[in-house]
Amino acid sequence: MTIRKAFNSKDDCDFVFTLSNDPIVRRNSFNQEIISYESHCKWYKSTVEDENTLFFLVFESDSFVGQIRFKRNDIYSEECVISLSISESFRGKHISEDFIRLGICELQNNWKNIKFIIAEVKDDNIASNKLFSNMEFELVSTVNTYKFNTKL
Ligand SMILES: CC(C)(COP(=O)(O)OP(=O)(O)OC[C@H]1O[C@@H](n2cnc3c(N)ncnc32)[C@H](O)[C@@H]1OP(=O)(O)O)[C@@H](O)C(=O)NCCC(=O)NCCS
Repeated sequence: MTIRKAFNSKDDCDFVFTLSNDPIVRRNSFNQEIISYESHCKWYKSTVEDENTLFFLVFESDSFVGQIRFKRNDIYSEECVISLSISESFRGKHISEDFIRLGICELQNNWKNIKFIIAEVKDDNIASNKLFSNMEFELVSTVNTYKFNTKL
């Protein structure tokens, strides 16, 4: 798998649009509503341009595997929130840990201050809860929030 920053391009915007409206991605999101193309494009452009978001796309050869993002409050933040989704055809193949590690590596190359990564996961999202607890993410609250020490 290869990882690169998301571009402000129609192709990248469309990859993420299709993935974001995948029924499982919607079900596991805190906002479950179907996303219109127009509102997606607005959100996509502002997110790619946001200096407090790192937005990456992952590919296997030419195929789009998924997206991973990190969001911090400001340039001094020592914590950021992770969000990720993998395309349906790549799910369930045990690639999600490598997928996250690629993202964390890029995070560390870009934002040197970050000490902790926070993951907020819904209770019934079994794959995601397993993924974070299998990695060195520590469950820090009863609402399935995990924390990862990047200096480990
Ligand atoms: C969460 C997500 C990234 C995990 O990736 P994945 O490719 O499905 O998961 P993997 O195949 O790498 O497996 C990770 C773990 O989940 C388990 N798992 C995967 N799919 C599962 C399913 N449908 N039911 C139960 N367990 C499942 C795997 O067995 C593995 O656990 P194990 O190592 O103990 O066996 C992916 O499912 C996804 O993009 N989901 C939609 C968006 C989402 O939920 N994002 C996360 C929001 S916090």
